[in-house]
Amino acid sequence: RMPILEQCYNLMDFEAVARRVMKKTAWAYYSSGADDEITMRENHSAFHKIWFRPRILHDVENIDLSTTMLGTKVSMPFYVTATALGKLGNPEGEVILTRGAKKHNVIQMIPTLASCSFDEIVDAKEGDQVQWLQLYVNKNRDITKRIVEHAEKRGCKGLFITVDAPQLGRREKDMRSKFSDVGSNVQNTGGDNVDRSQGAARAISSFIDPSLSWKDIPWFKSITKMPILLKGVQRVEDVIKAVAVGVDGVVLSNHGGRQLDFARSGIEVLAEVMPELRRLGLEDRIEVYIDGGVRRATDIIKAICLGAKGVGIGRPFLYAMSAYGLPGVDRAMQLLKDEMEMNMRLIGCNSVDQLSPEFLDTTGLKMH
Ligand code: FNR
Repeated sequence: RMPILEQCYNLMDFEAVARRVMKKTAWAYYSSGADDEITMRENHSAFHKIWFRPRILHDVENIDLSTTMLGTKVSMPFYVTATALGKLGNPEGEVILTRGAKKHNVIQMIPTLASCSFDEIVDAKEGDQVQWLQLYVNKNRDITKRIVEHAEKRGCKGLFITVDAPQLGRREKDMRSKFSDVGSNVQNTGGDNVDRSQGAARAISSFIDPSLSWKDIPWFKSITKMPILLKGVQRVEDVIKAVAVGVDGVVLSNHGGRQLDFARSGIEVLAEVMPELRRLGLEDRIEVYIDGGVRRATDIIKAICLGAKGVGIGRPFLYAMSAYGLPGVDRAMQLLKDEMEMNMRLIGCNSVDQLSPEFLDTTGLKMH
């Protein structure tokens, strides 16, 4: 029998339920990684190489999980990252994530390839709720300019340009499922002569411009006042370049293991990036985020200790939404919150700004 919602005790439990209830094509699209899925697995196992050095007898009666991201105060140091095609998992689509994010006061990143229209997702927000936009850059820059200007006008507070997908990775599980139902609603592809024979990902991605380069960044800065971040950075040299061209942040990410197989995990790259940024005195010039494989509050805490401003979480909320709708997303976020509070106590920290590398033993990271 299918577990009821209250029987989901951690984020992995939602995945197990989603796998059973979702349509095969939808499951294939959400769960797949590129090639042999080595990077997708590494996104989890990299966290397992980091251990804690807890501090004892430090008064931990009060715990404050709040922090800021790009100037926005949030209740916990994670955000809902952009994942395309929300309606594959739930007929209501991404607006469910909007409502869950509101309830827990965290930020939602809206994907270019959402199944709900961009305006539906913005209309679903309440009060001073904050959203960001994930951008796939179209070969037709007029379309991209319109998307960016519209997002700014509708109140988006950050522009995340995806830079790890000049060509979509081969997600073979997804390709085999011969995607037939892109969802009438995929927006922003600039035409709908899509090839449906190669899986969902390929069907919707042919508009993405592989010629995008550093030279284009000033243009983005000229068309928007939103903070600009690069999503999918994978080495310290590129973080330093990002500072030099004046972007506001980076997401160290391998796209959930869906692009380059054998890309390193975000947490591993973070451990390379932060010491170098500190050495160069650049750590205050840029906000560094990571995503990929975050399933436990301990994963989040490790990333913050290493210097991340926050972490993005993708699949778990898709699975929670697919299995149980809004109550699922709500519970997934509540579980993370409860785990965070407990683990902050157990390592001897009262607040996010107290987290630092001294709470970690990372010697295992460099030994493979
Ligand atoms: C993604 N991701 C993604 N990223 C992006 O920049 N644009 C996109 O359209 C998508 N779409 C997408 C769909 C699905 C189904 C998944 C699982 C992922 C990548 C996403 O933003 C993020 O990098 C990863 O999902 C993080 O890894 P976890 O949390 O899923 O392990």
